[in-house]
Amino acid sequence: MLRMSRRVAGFGTTVFVEINNLARECDAVNLGQGAPDFDGPPEVLQAAVQAVNRALNQYAPGIGMPAVREAIAQHAARFYGQKLDPETDVLVTSGATEGVFAAILGLTDPGDEVIVFEPVYDTYVPNMVMAGVMPRYVPLRGAHWTFDPEELAKAFNRRTRAIIVNTPHNPTGKVYSRQELAVIAELCRKHDALAITDEVYEHILYDDAIHTRLATLPGMAERTLTISSLGKTFSVTGWKVGWALGPASLVNAVNQAHQFITYAVASPLQAAAATALNLPSSFFENLQVNYQARRDRMVKILEHVGFQVFKPSGSYFVMIDWRGVAPAKVQDDFQFARWLTSEIGVACIPASPFYQESDKHLGKHCARFAVCKKHETLDAAAERLSRLAKR
Ligand SMILES: Cc1ncc(COP(=O)(O)O)c(C=O)c1O
Repeated sequence: MLRMSRRVAGFGTTVFVEINNLARECDAVNLGQGAPDFDGPPEVLQAAVQAVNRALNQYAPGIGMPAVREAIAQHAARFYGQKLDPETDVLVTSGATEGVFAAILGLTDPGDEVIVFEPVYDTYVPNMVMAGVMPRYVPLRGAHWTFDPEELAKAFNRRTRAIIVNTPHNPTGKVYSRQELAVIAELCRKHDALAITDEVYEHILYDDAIHTRLATLPGMAERTLTISSLGKTFSVTGWKVGWALGPASLVNAVNQAHQFITYAVASPLQAAAATALNLPSSFFENLQVNYQARRDRMVKILEHVGFQVFKPSGSYFVMIDWRGVAPAKVQDDFQFARWLTSEIGVACIPASPFYQESDKHLGKHCARFAVCKKHETLDAAAERLSRLAKR
């Protein structure tokens, strides 16, 4: 009889599939998945079209097109003062998702431990399971999603190979402060561990938040692999063009895995990535202004309804505590998300899937709303949610 491998049998279906299906069935305004409902910059879209028409349609080099690696290195120099050799320190991957998986496969051995902060973005732990690596969880707690340095220190041990740091953070919108990153850096140095960072929301920042790259802290350049991608910054999440940056030895290890996962990334979309990354500063400034307006709007709507809102400093998301707003029949985050989608007509994502089994209670009262939507979409959500305020 055909059956699934034990490796994947426990994965189930992601919550995004369930909520997207329900949102479609109920004709709900979908603030679930973190995908913009508007297009990226026209010059970037045009660059992809031109690349197709210029016959850039065959395999790119496995590590990425030279012009794209150059643009990625320049972007890192422009925004973070990093000095990277595009020949050896940059690898183009199929989105950040593949970058993280290839990093785990290329940099860890079965039986190693990798530390993650909880709530945790949903691909990391299944990636570890497939690689035979053990996750170690350190919870983020309280209104500002902070971690206890003692608890983090205890998570490190002789098996620790790496820590994954996602900043700005999905699902909470936390932007790790320089002080927090310094604590992480010190522990990495002390235990000779690697850091793998996921910085896909690096340009989606609110108020005066500053995105600090862990790789730029003292002693961290040689032990950090920085991963990011095009999707969130340039509103092209369907393109799946990402990259991994770091010292040649780490990038080479990641490429050992990457060459046998995807081999190379879609050529025309890579070509357009160079156009995107070279856009002038005004693009990045406008992006922040536009996102700030969306976030402010969404926070206002959610607060008006009566939710406890965790104001994000970055990312596409706003987390809320739904207690006190939902009716008594709603007992957990899944029931809340299903109820809000089917009865109020606004879809959101329950928070417990971002926690391991024994910590699910920590996410039970929370749900995540995406703000990466047109103002019309947010208007429609506001109109429906305002019915809740009137109850
Ligand atoms: C934290 C985080 N990392 C990675 C990704 C996926 O990035 P990509 O589309 O580049 O694979 C997402 C998308 O939601 C994300 O939120």
